[in-house]
Amino acid sequence: MTSTGRPALVEVTGVEKRFGTTRALRGVDLSIGAGQCLGLVGRNGAGKSTLVSILSGLSEPDAGTVRFDGAPAPRVGDIQRWREWIATVFQHSMIVPHLSVAENVFLGASPHGATPGLVSWAAMRRRTRDIMREWGFDIAPQTPCRELSVEQLQVVEIVRALARGARCVLLDEPTAALERQAVVRLFDRVRQLTEAGVAVLYISHHLEEVFEICQDVAVLRDGELVLAAPTASLGKDDLVAAMVGEVRTPAPPTSVAITEAGTPGTPHDTPSPGESATAASVSTSANTPPGDVVLAVDGLTSDSARGRLSGVSLRVRAGEVVGVTGLLSAGVATLARVVAGAEASTGGVVTLRGRRVPPGRRAAAQRAGIGYIPEDRRAEGFVAQLGVAENITMTITRQLADRLGVLRPRARAAAAAPLASALSLVSSGPGQPVGELSGGNQQKVTVARTLAHHPSLIVAITPTRGVDVASKELLLRSLADVAEESGAGVLLCTDELSDLVICDRVVVFVRGEVFTEFSRPPFDRDELIRATEGLTNPAEGANPAEEAAQ
Ligand SMILES: Nc1ncnc2c1ncn2[C@@H]1O[C@H](COP(=O)(O)OP(=O)(O)OP(=O)(O)O)[C@@H](O)[C@H]1O
Ligand SMILES: [Mg+2]
Repeated sequence: MTSTGRPALVEVTGVEKRFGTTRALRGVDLSIGAGQCLGLVGRNGAGKSTLVSILSGLSEPDAGTVRFDGAPAPRVGDIQRWREWIATVFQHSMIVPHLSVAENVFLGASPHGATPGLVSWAAMRRRTRDIMREWGFDIAPQTPCRELSVEQLQVVEIVRALARGARCVLLDEPTAALERQAVVRLFDRVRQLTEAGVAVLYISHHLEEVFEICQDVAVLRDGELVLAAPTASLGKDDLVAAMVGEVRTPAPPTSVAITEAGTPGTPHDTPSPGESATAASVSTSANTPPGDVVLAVDGLTSDSARGRLSGVSLRVRAGEVVGVTGLLSAGVATLARVVAGAEASTGGVVTLRGRRVPPGRRAAAQRAGIGYIPEDRRAEGFVAQLGVAENITMTITRQLADRLGVLRPRARAAAAAPLASALSLVSSGPGQPVGELSGGNQQKVTVARTLAHHPSLIVAITPTRGVDVASKELLLRSLADVAEESGAGVLLCTDELSDLVICDRVVVFVRGEVFTEFSRPPFDRDELIRATEGLTNPAEGANPAEEAAQ
């Protein structure tokens, strides 16, 4: 039985999982009933994805049982039989890049034609097209997946899970890269599924989403299930308190805020014993008068498949945090990639402290002093096989080496430690390979690596993606702190409006152009949303494009 009296469709009892000395799950009991949408929340490294991997039949618990509808689950590794029960959208893409969209949707479950044993490619494409249409997505079934954007890949994963007709769907952070309209469609679909008796497990760091679609919520903390209750009986603060597991003191006042009617402010936690006290006490940079121009972008154009740019000009001054936001195809990520040298432009000029940055050469941009927190951290943000400290100090090895040019692991660990603790990075030690870390902790490594090399400009694409609510604030504050203390400029390109809390100015892109600028905080969430959709904002006068280029 579930806590709400429904018969359990999926039930885990006493589940334990260890990785070396890490106890990822400690005696977890959890059940999901038919027709129930259960939210699962917890800080980075709490054990959520580990539980998903056990529920998906990919890894075996060290102790405990998994039951489906009262009967023992299939043998681990018997993927076909697990799939009859469970469909999963994993946190890390499981898409095979060289296969087409349709082949990925039906991977391991190809529909057969009239001839037994033969896969019907036509049926596969037709069914994929039907599901896409039903979802309002426009991705051709024959497109090779390597050509798709992060969001399109996620759509393919969700469609794949839904096409299976399984009785339980596990969604591990499915909305991280989805646009608002796509999120609305996803939520409608989740509601349809639960009405049809499907059990859904929904993992998200966006707590408001959990309140919106989950009837019940469970909280994991350090591998232990510490709370399971109907969402209606809880507030956001209760959830955060359960996740953090500490007595919380009121947040120190910050001078900027995203104003948001009826929503509690960003949760704040006290540093845990291992964390540095400075991390929580850093202030935002909004009061610092901006200095000289660090970054000048003039007339930038690009025909990138991820979003075009047509004649973008803007400035970032020393100590200034400039936010750039817009819908996914608006060119925000393209701007970041071009400025960071990760992608070439078709025209225009990028200058850093008066010196022209060669286009499309990441290494040269890095040498010039441009730090970069990329969108796809697994591809560009870290080296999975190398340790935490080695990744964080990768760009400063020369500074850390002794006079003979020898770099000792202890020197690396010492250099990495303050950054790791400022970002509340959870790992078993400085030598742990980053590939073993949880998704949010991998993101923190990417951010720490960029901060370590003291750049003059930090270009970040949605740096808080996948980071838990309590760590989010630490991460944003670290960025603001770098701007304030070292005078670096920050170009914060994001589709998470709550990231903009640390910004001095926010530029909004529509269809590859600067549409408007919000020149001082606080930034009104509704006005920002209206602007990203290309609706003019009566409060902001003047010619926005010209203003942004000043
Ligand atoms: N293959 C592995 N080897 C070693 N440790 C692992 C491995 N997989 C997970 N862990 C550890 O288990 C713990 C739980 O990780 P998990 O990925 O389940 O966290 P999570 O709750 O999903 O976090 P996030 O919100 O960041 O995604 C972490 O401390 C992680 O480092
Ligand atoms: Mg995870």
